[in-house]
Amino acid sequence: DGPKPLAGKKAVVTSGPTHEPIDPVRFIANRSSGKQGHAIAAELARAGADVTLVSGPVTLPNPAGVRVVQVETAQEMLAAVQGQLPADIAVCAAAVADWRVLHRADQKLKKTGDGVIPALQFAENPDILATISTAGPNRPSLVVGFAAETENVVDHARAKRDRKGCDWILANNVGPETGTFGGDNNEIHLIGGSDPARDEIWPRQSKTAVARSLVARITRHFNS
Ligand code: C5P
Repeated sequence: DGPKPLAGKKAVVTSGPTHEPIDPVRFIANRSSGKQGHAIAAELARAGADVTLVSGPVTLPNPAGVRVVQVETAQEMLAAVQGQLPADIAVCAAAVADWRVLHRADQKLKKTGDGVIPALQFAENPDILATISTAGPNRPSLVVGFAAETENVVDHARAKRDRKGCDWILANNVGPETGTFGGDNNEIHLIGGSDPARDEIWPRQSKTAVARSLVARITRHFNS
């Protein structure tokens, strides 16, 4: 089976969308297949890490050799991630809904028949990546986030890295022409620090290949 370069390392990976309920039958969500996060969890496990995958609702099978915690909402996702700390590695690949519905209805909202349309109020969801990046003594020693951008990809991603306090950002061009969302290919620009000399550009490759490249990069990080 080959050497296990990440044996003894504990990793937590977020994946998929979150669903934020409006009422018992309706929700707000982000568009996310979970393919990238699930592939990363699988590759970390293949490299010998002890992996917990915290996943929102997806239609993918559970990756082999990975502990899966299924969640619905951003708040549940944050609690599940925090429940896995301390860890050595955190990779936040989930597409978390930025807002949740402030007052979720206990019963299905009904059409009133008089043309009155319900108005939703929102509350801001926790930023899981930013929260664990600033988790003090519990902060994983390597925290990796993603940035999906449609323009000025690298500048926006570097600013995001600084703002959130993570170590690396994998910036992804999701312009409408790229077919990234739900598709199988990602072009990644790894932002490894405030100094662009630490950046890496990975050619367009499958999400599985991106996962392998990331795990190879993580392995080098811990072994150099
Ligand atoms: O700010 P933005 O959503 O573009 O940042 C994307 C990165 O932040 C991803 O790594 C995503 O998983 C993470 N994120 C998060 N919690 C949020 C929003 C984003 O962990 N509420």
